[in-house]
Amino acid sequence: MPDIQPLRTDHAPALLTFEQENRAYFAASIPDRGDDYFARFDEHLRDRLAEQAAGDCYFHVLVGAEDEVLGRINLVDVADGGAELGYRIAERAAGRGLATWAVRELCHLAAHRYGLTVLRAGTTLDNAASRAVLTRTGFTVVGERQFSGRPGLSYLRNLTQHPR
Ligand SMILES: CC(C)(COP(=O)(O)OP(=O)(O)OC[C@H]1O[C@@H](n2cnc3c(N)ncnc32)[C@H](O)[C@@H]1OP(=O)(O)O)[C@@H](O)C(=O)NCCC(=O)NCCS
Repeated sequence: MPDIQPLRTDHAPALLTFEQENRAYFAASIPDRGDDYFARFDEHLRDRLAEQAAGDCYFHVLVGAEDEVLGRINLVDVADGGAELGYRIAERAAGRGLATWAVRELCHLAAHRYGLTVLRAGTTLDNAASRAVLTRTGFTVVGERQFSGRPGLSYLRNLTQHPR
């Protein structure tokens, strides 16, 4: 399995390559980041790292054997012992259990490194892979929610209990 590393400035080139190579693939399931994100990538990264330094978010990259970025897994909107989980895996690394593994690892880090007690997540109804990942990592459906006009589900994972 790759290494899970907290996001740093020197990940920038590999991270940009990851986002560019997978842009169309990601846009099929989640909203596209938009041209501005790619045009001002360094600026966006600096903003995210400032949020991380302030303790509002914890960003991570999944780094492969050749220092390539194979995925991202993040905790955002950190507050009151909780945070929102988000992830994306490179097309070429999909279907090998990487997201499942990374979510399990991040749940552990969330509890033991970041001191959180609950994680929230959400996905659209048509994202079968993401629903499978959340269900098998101990998240339970707690409601319905729209994502950019698409129907979806809200999930919760209590980090103080082991998943069944
Ligand atoms: C969703 C995503 C993170 C899954 O990553 P992954 O590393 O391929 O996930 P895993 O291999 O751990 O598990 C995916 C599971 O879903 C299953 N799956 C994949 N596509 C599926 C489909 N269309 N229908 C049903 N199950 C599907 C896989 O078979 C796998 O289950 P298995 O191990 O029992 O075979 C990845 O596809 C991705 O980054 N997609 C684009 C961004 C995105 O949707 N992010 C999540 C936003 S909520």
